[in-house]
This record gives sequence, structure tokens and C-alpha cells, in this order.
Amino acid sequence: MYRFKPELRIPGPVPVPNEVSLQMAKPMINHRGALFKEHYPKVLARLGPLFGTTNQIHMITGSGTAGMEVAVSNLVSPNTPVLCLVGGFFGNRWAELCAAYGAELHILDFPWDAGIDPEKVREFLKHHPEIELIFVVYNESSTAVLNDVEAISKAREGHSALLVVDAVSALGGTPCQMDAWGLDVVVSASQKCLMTPPGTAFVTFSPRAKEYSQKCRASRYYLDLRRYDQYMEKSETPFTPNINNVFALEEALNMIEAEGLDNVYARHRLMRDMMRSGIKAIGLELLVADEDASPTVTGVRYPNADGFRARLRERYGVEFAGGQGIHANNIFRVGHMGYATPLDVLTALAVLEMDLKKFGQATKAAELVMEA
Ligand SMILES: Cc1ncc(COP(=O)(O)O)c(C=O)c1O
Repeated sequence: MYRFKPELRIPGPVPVPNEVSLQMAKPMINHRGALFKEHYPKVLARLGPLFGTTNQIHMITGSGTAGMEVAVSNLVSPNTPVLCLVGGFFGNRWAELCAAYGAELHILDFPWDAGIDPEKVREFLKHHPEIELIFVVYNESSTAVLNDVEAISKAREGHSALLVVDAVSALGGTPCQMDAWGLDVVVSASQKCLMTPPGTAFVTFSPRAKEYSQKCRASRYYLDLRRYDQYMEKSETPFTPNINNVFALEEALNMIEAEGLDNVYARHRLMRDMMRSGIKAIGLELLVADEDASPTVTGVRYPNADGFRARLRERYGVEFAGGQGIHANNIFRVGHMGYATPLDVLTALAVLEMDLKKFGQATKAAELVMEA
């Protein structure tokens, strides 16, 4: 019906602003030439306030998972005792990656509809002084849960384990204070709150993580952080990067800086609150409680959600995401990150309301819309 103007409301990739897209059409340049070398380190440095760090940030040409693999392949040697905190699909990805690199794998499982309990982490670590690395997801996109990584970091107390954080769907949408919170490795990606096309991952190591990685015995080549450090001295990447994504990110950072980081975070919190109030008002059930709710994505319980999503896509051109893992077909997820405004939330809610009015679960507001 209205699908000639598609509306992407998934937790990444997100719509890319025109100004940013235009950068992708720029003529190709030499990645070992002066123009690239001038822009590359500056763009990376501008990510510092988003990560909350003064550590060197590296860009990897690859998706977010490539960034996760940089962390694992530069830290996990065969039989390294690691702890993965798993409360969703991407927490599980950490565990799979650690297993692939031969870690001695310990998993603390959490329900897939609530945050990770730092007390359980504290308790586990008390009995496992041998753990060297802890892996966690900041914003678990599969469950729409924002984990309290600051509290998880504190739960280590005197324990020496390094904390490795997947901030793929958090960075730029909610505060991240790598240095102040004592996070050791943080990973992110271009296609979420950074509203840039997919294909770029970002990784940063604390000095302690860098030192620890020197003794890592894992086999690695493309993702070997030492190469990225060496080439950074020349303001280059070791391998050909997706050059125009650097310029796209530069433009996205212009937009983020013009809005102001605090305002960006406030906008995400507002979208979260609007979405949650609207979902409740429509009479649908939210997947997680308010205290665990993500500012960048909202999960909604819905039987046969995939059929419902297909109808919304077909009738209105609005694309919501499906559930993953145990939530497949039982939930749908609405992305509200990056290039998204409260008006986009209203559109998403209106579509849900109109459709439910037509096919069931009518509400008063929807009746007014349908009569208009
Ligand atoms: C929290 C989180 N971690 C990791 C990933 C993996 O990123 P990619 O699909 O870019 O490899 C995603 C992607 O949705 C994510 O949301």
C-alpha cells in the first residue's frame, strides 16, 4: 500500500543520511596517499569521546564480528580460561568465537529477557581466580537489553581478568566510558548508531590489554592487531580499507558533533521511552523490564511474529526485525538508533496500531486514525 517508501526499522543496518551516503560516491583515492593519511587518524580520534577513551582506535574492514574476532584472536591462546556472559545471541557469539580459538570456555548463562546480574559475575569470579578474560555484550541487540557494563566491570573487584565488551549496537547511542569504567577492549561497527554503511568495525585495546596480547599464541594474520599498530604510525591500515566509509564516517561524526553527544544520547532515551509507552498503550507485551531496556532497540513479544512482520512490510513498507535464537518467530524488534528521530517512532507505532486495528487488537487511538 505505502511500500514505495521503505522504512527500515531494524537494529542495524540503519538508514544512512543523504550527506553520509554522498560520501560513498566520491572518486576513489589512493589509500597510501596524502588525502587518506590526512583524514584517517583524525576520524579515528573523533571516535574517542564516543568510546570514552584516549586509547588508539583501529578500523578494520569487515563487519562487527570481524571486530569481535580481532579481540578474540589477539587475546585468546589455546586453553586460555575465559568467561563468557551469555544472555542472548551475541553473547553466544563471543562463546562461539572463544571456542573456535581453543579457549577453556566457562559460560555464565542469563535469561534472554533480562540484564546480566553483576552479583552472579562477582560470585563466579570469587571461585575462579584462573579466569583471564571476560566477554560481555553491552547492548544485546537480540533481546533489546542494555547491560550494566560499568557494574560488571566493578564486579571484578581485585580479580585481574580483562573485560572485553561488544558495543556494536551501543556505541554512539548510549554513553560508553571505556577508561573511566575500566573496560579493556571495546568493539563496535559502522552500521548501527554511527549511521554509516556496513563494512567497518572499530576496536580499541587498553594498555593492559595491549600488553596481555603480546603473549597471545593464536594464529592470526588479517586481524593481527600488531600490524594495525605498525601501520598506524604511517596513518595507514595494513590492508586496503573501504576508503569511502572513512569519509562517510567523517560526515556522520559531523552530524553527531553538531547535535552534541549528550543530546544524541537523550534522543535515544526519548525514543526508547516513547516506543515502550506506545507498545504498552497498544496492548502489546514488551520483552524486557524498564530497568533493562535498551535505548537503541525494543523487543516485543508476538506469536508468529515473522508472519506479522511480513504483512507490515507488504502493506506499509515498514521493516521490523525478527527474533534470534530462542526468540525466533516469538518476538519482533524495532530499531531506533542512529539516523532515527522520535517522529520515526511515531510512524512505527502508527503502523502497528493501524494494522492491529484492521486485523485484531483494536485500540481507541487506532480507531480515530482509521476513521480520519
Ligand atoms: C550486539 C551485536 N554484536 C555483534 C553484531 C555482529 O555484527 P555484524 O553483523 O556486523 O558482524 C551485531 C549485529 O547485529 C550486534 O547487534
